[in-house]
Amino acid sequence: MNEAIKPGPETPSQAIGLPHLSVVVPTFNERDNVTKLYQRLVTTFGATPFEVVFVDDNSPDATWEVVRELAQRDPRVRCIRRIGRRGLSGACIEGILASSAPYAAVIDADLQHDETQLPKMLSLLESGQAELVVGSRYIEGGSADSFNKQRAGASALATEVAKRTLGVKIADPMSGFFMIRRDRFEQLAPQLSTQGFKILLDIIATARGELRTVEVPYTFGSRLHGESKLDSMVALDFLGLVLAKLTHDVISLRFILFGMVGTTGLVVHLTTLYIAHEILNVPFAEAQGLGAFVAMTSNFILNNFLTYRDQRLKGFAILRGLILFYLVCSVGLFANVGVAFSVYDQEPIWWLAGLAGALMGVVWNYAMSGLFVWRKR
Ligand code: GDD
Ligand code: MN
Repeated sequence: MNEAIKPGPETPSQAIGLPHLSVVVPTFNERDNVTKLYQRLVTTFGATPFEVVFVDDNSPDATWEVVRELAQRDPRVRCIRRIGRRGLSGACIEGILASSAPYAAVIDADLQHDETQLPKMLSLLESGQAELVVGSRYIEGGSADSFNKQRAGASALATEVAKRTLGVKIADPMSGFFMIRRDRFEQLAPQLSTQGFKILLDIIATARGELRTVEVPYTFGSRLHGESKLDSMVALDFLGLVLAKLTHDVISLRFILFGMVGTTGLVVHLTTLYIAHEILNVPFAEAQGLGAFVAMTSNFILNNFLTYRDQRLKGFAILRGLILFYLVCSVGLFANVGVAFSVYDQEPIWWLAGLAGALMGVVWNYAMSGLFVWRKR
């Protein structure tokens, strides 16, 4: 029965207008760039049937509105407007999964990537020479001259770390410009992290050498309009991703970030305790309680900014989230002490019991925070 709707050899996919390639463009505040990119894609592809999927995280500048207007004039343009979510990697994943074309590319909206390389990248996939083609700044013929010194240094360092720790072989795993066979992507997708910026690195690390990859040189240009969304948090995202991949995804990126925040909480707690008890002469019990309270508050703020930045609570939701977070952590403390006691009962080694209790506390807080405080809307 299905045969009837399948484009057989007598009705090639071109004839019924099916796209051969999906170009996925993540956007956040790119209103002034999207039309220009669209025009350039049209020029680049000529008769090759393609579609372009913009994935916009409900940009305050209403980029999605501009995309919708384009889409009303050209069926090759599609727009996914995501609400209550943020993140470059997640946007790319959703865009690729929304397509059914055999090949998918990811390209930035700001024209820093060179779209004229796309046909070459496509032919490398079509000929079977590659399953993944990466636009590379760091092979002969490529460059990133538009980078300032600091950005160039950070990029080189991250690339080196990725190569050494994850055994990544290619020259530019940090690139945000690539094309992949969609069926291969679909296999890897469930293991990819929706958080962070490093979607390509994640794909390569997750494939563990099982993805035939070819690099194509290009020159990383300057942004047309607007500004970069990369901030200092990106470095932490990157480290978290490396750790997650090193543990074969046993530990998720989010859990690692949550754990890192928890560690800072310990320092905040002890500092508060010291100031209150040693300097201000507050009795120990009160000082300890105050320490826990301040640490929970700072943990909440940091988690909202870092661990759950893609689902960041804003406005009144912050207060509600904070109160829920206090509740979750208070119960977590009981779990912590309970486990520590029972371990100590079996094996009276103080640090082992303490560690087991602390671990239980973190796991509990993490699981419950995800369920109640930063639950997916
Ligand atoms: N949907 C969505 N959500 N899109 C986003 C988000 C987000 O949270 N953050 C950024 N984008 C979009 C931007 O609108 C742009 O189209 C693209 O992702 C790249 O973001 P930029 O802010 O321009 O990043 P960059 O130029 O500093 O970094 C680029 O180059 C790096 C290589 O050095 C990106 O391609 C990085 O992924 C890449 O590593
Ligand atoms: Mn950019």
